[in-house]
Amino acid sequence: MIRRSKPKLQPLPAAGPDGPRHVAIIMDGNGRWATQRGRPRLFGHHSGAKRVREVVEACPDVGVEYLTIFAFSTENWKRTQVEVAGLMSLFRRYITKETRALNERGVRVRFIGDRVRLDHKLIKLMNELEEITSQNTSVHLTIAINYGGRDEVARATKRLAQDVADGRLDPEAIDEETLPKYLDTYVLPDPDLVIRTSGEARISNFLLWQSAYAEYEFIDTLWPDFTREEFAALCCSYGGRDRRFGAVKT
Ligand code: IPE
Ligand code: IPE
Ligand code: MG
Repeated sequence: MIRRSKPKLQPLPAAGPDGPRHVAIIMDGNGRWATQRGRPRLFGHHSGAKRVREVVEACPDVGVEYLTIFAFSTENWKRTQVEVAGLMSLFRRYITKETRALNERGVRVRFIGDRVRLDHKLIKLMNELEEITSQNTSVHLTIAINYGGRDEVARATKRLAQDVADGRLDPEAIDEETLPKYLDTYVLPDPDLVIRTSGEARISNFLLWQSAYAEYEFIDTLWPDFTREEFAALCCSYGGRDRRFGAVKT
């Protein structure tokens, strides 16, 4: 029997010390990609899911420590029941199928978003994947499911208000450092670079608080066509950005 080995991947350029430490991606365009091929939208979601592995695996080479991906927004429930159910089943399959590879590559997986509306089987798989990978450090992968920036801030504020009501937090002590401690992302650094595929130049409720000073890249590629090379190139070109954070360089 002839064993066909996988083609060897070309090495990727490292973004170097000026590269982004945390990249967040709005993976958009799956539906249009499928429609262009005369296929159902779910076909696009399945093809899109395959791209995730490639980008995660590229992170150590490029020098990206944190990768956060937007998989399902709080607004995506407005889609047809068929699409929503198909996406939820895809998430379950993705987790089941990828757990081993993610763990072997030392990827630590976290989920952000409100879990209450998700089905119990999915929540169980999410908890297990977080637990299994909890000691890993090579890449911090955060997957946003039923995530909305406004919803996250509202949930955080509710808990913060409860702490005030219970006497655990002094309202006078609340500042810019306080609220992020209540966000789903409390353990993550802010994203340095946010990429959105598919040509739409909007952020669709993604990481609203955290991206206040992020750099943005809106690219035309539809998510199922996105490659590790494109990811590396965007991270490398980020190094040339002049991030002033409101100050004037002297
Ligand atoms: C992004 O692709 C994936 C999700 C929002 C779940 P879309 O499904 O939004 O694809 P388009 O934007 O319709 O092409
Ligand atoms: C944003 O894409 C959400 C995800 C990628 C998961 P959408 O396709 O839902 O955003 P809009 O509707 O174009 O703003
Ligand atoms: Mg879309």
